[in-house]
This record gives sequence, structure tokens and C-alpha cells, in this order.
Amino acid sequence: MGRVPVICVENLYEQAICTEYRLHGSQIGIIKGEVMEIRKLNPDEQPPMELLLLADPSEPIVREYLRRGQCYIAVIEGDAAGVYVLLPTRPGTVELVNIAVCETLQGQGLGKRLVHHAITGAQQAGYKTLEIGTGNSSLDQLALYQKCGFRITGIDKDFFVRHYEEEIYENGIQCRDMIRLSQDL
Ligand code: COA
Repeated sequence: MGRVPVICVENLYEQAICTEYRLHGSQIGIIKGEVMEIRKLNPDEQPPMELLLLADPSEPIVREYLRRGQCYIAVIEGDAAGVYVLLPTRPGTVELVNIAVCETLQGQGLGKRLVHHAITGAQQAGYKTLEIGTGNSSLDQLALYQKCGFRITGIDKDFFVRHYEEEIYENGIQCRDMIRLSQDL
């Protein structure tokens, strides 16, 4: 089967002209002249632990997500550049957890593409609701998720105080509460 161009985005990554292709259910694009593919992690592949731990410092929690969910990776020139996990929670509902982009590529649009990939994938899998949660101190993440269509639905007060041994600080703010967001698919 040949490659079918589905979208063309100019200047998404600095000077790059990015043409996306859909091939066998994965998405392929170009970042700074290098080929990028977003696809499911194969059963025989190791999950990119270093990347996953950027999003959640607790390895037991990450491993539990991997056991219960489906891991997706963005691969550039053979290396994992981004990751996320889709975790079924209730009937018709799936949660986007553990999204991370490698530090050298952050701030260039890959995170947004991963969120949109998750939205499309969850829709295609027949889910009705996609949820996500982040810390009260994760200001950039809150911006990203709302730009991608999520609305705040609730606050799990003191979630990070109850579930994490170490205190977490970001943007000079203690991360205490989990902000819950969701969108209808
Ligand atoms: N400063 C300010 N805003 C930023 C930013 C930065 N350095 N990086 C991202 N953002 C915000 C902006 O609102 C941006 O929207 P815009 O493009 O319309 O300006 C939006 O996020 C999307 O940016 P993008 O470049 O797609 O994000 P990214 O590739 O850096 O990925 C994360 C976003 C959160 C996945 C990535 O920063 C990351 O891996 N962080 C560490 C792990 C983590 O915190 N995971 C989430 C746990 S809830």
C-alpha cells in the first residue's frame, strides 16, 4: 500500500515544511528534515522509561500505567522523542497519561501533536470521553491541554501530597492538587 498524504503544515518546526503521511495506522511527518513517526509501542520493544519518568517521577506508577494501558511513541531517526499512554478507566472513558517529549525537543510543537494523536486514536477506538490530569503548578501543561480542547472538570485536592513522598515544586509553586480535565470525543 502506498503512502497517502493527509495534511501539509508549513513552518511547524522552524524552517521545515512538514508533510504528514498515514501509513498502516501510524503517523509519519518530518521534523527539521528528519522523519518522525508516531505509533504504538511494539510488544517486543522496551518502553522509553527515561522519557516516561519526565512526566511522572514514580516508577511503580509508570509501570502500572504501562501494564494497564497502551503506550505510543514518537520516533525520530530510530530514537524515542516522545511518549504517551492511553489508559482505559471506565466504560467509554480513557485517560491520557504520562505524556512527555525529550527535553531537547520540547517547545517545538511535538507535545501538541502527541495530544492530537491521542484524541484521534481514542475517537477511532470508540471512546466517548478523554480525560487528563496535571498538577496545579504545571502551568505550561494546563495551557497545552486547554489549547487542545480539554476543559477543567475538577480538583483532586492534595493528590500529590498524599501519593508522592517528595515535595514537588514547579514555577515556584508547590504541586499539591491534581487538576482534572476532560473532553467529549
Ligand atoms: N514555555 C511556555 N509554554 C510552553 C512551553 C514553554 N517552554 N512549552 C510548551 N508550552 C505550552 C504552550 O502553551 C504551547 O502552545 P503554543 O505552541 O500554542 O504556544 C503548548 O504548550 C504546546 O507546546 P509543545 O511545543 O507542543 O509542547 P512540548 O513539545 O514541549 O510538550 C510536554 C509538552 C508537557 C509534553 C513537554 O514539555 C514535557 O515533556 N514536559 C515534561 C513532562 C511533563 O510535564 N508531562 C506532562 C505531565 S502532566
